[in-house]
Amino acid sequence: MASAPEPPRERLFFALWPPADVARRLRDLQQGVLRDVPGRRIAADRLHLTLRFVGGTDTGTAACLRAMAAGLRVPPFTLVVDCVGAFPRAKVVWAGVSRPPDELAALAAALEAGCRDCGVAPETRPFVPHLTLLRKATRRLPKPGTPVEPVTWPVTEFVLAASQTRPEGAVYRVRDRWPLRAADG
Ligand code: 2AM
Repeated sequence: MASAPEPPRERLFFALWPPADVARRLRDLQQGVLRDVPGRRIAADRLHLTLRFVGGTDTGTAACLRAMAAGLRVPPFTLVVDCVGAFPRAKVVWAGVSRPPDELAALAAALEAGCRDCGVAPETRPFVPHLTLLRKATRRLPKPGTPVEPVTWPVTEFVLAASQTRPEGAVYRVRDRWPLRAADG
């Protein structure tokens, strides 16, 4: 007897998605301080900071991840995006945070623990918070930590997003969002 077809596996990741005004200011970096860096600029509505990449996920695991995310208690915080840099091997130019708040690390650590509880393989690479601004960048790369005009981002929620690879680049869809709140909130 033929076995039932596998349900579709979405390629999921937890992320912070900037509000439109913050995304616009990040886009200004692409066209301002990074104007002379050749590469593919990421559209403002696709800019994000990945908290935990999960990858291809079956529906049962996705349900577990959603329940886990809904139960997290991390208070809102403010990110100050104040530098740019590059991952030369990945050909990525990014915007970063020179002084990440403790709550950001706490949120990433809570998601890591929750992913493991849902049976997702542990992340072996350290969490390096960044927002990818350019891809396919190989020349005139900024040194990591190059200061830029700070962009203040009040972070009030986190999201679960799905990524689909298309010829024109990755397309993202926000699948769910949860407010940040303190333990007694
Ligand atoms: P990047 O921007 O540095 O490429 C959706 O693909 C998001 O998940 C992107 O922000 C991407 O980071 C990140 N990502 C993609 N593949 C990953 C992997 N194998 N491990 C960790 N993060 C990944």
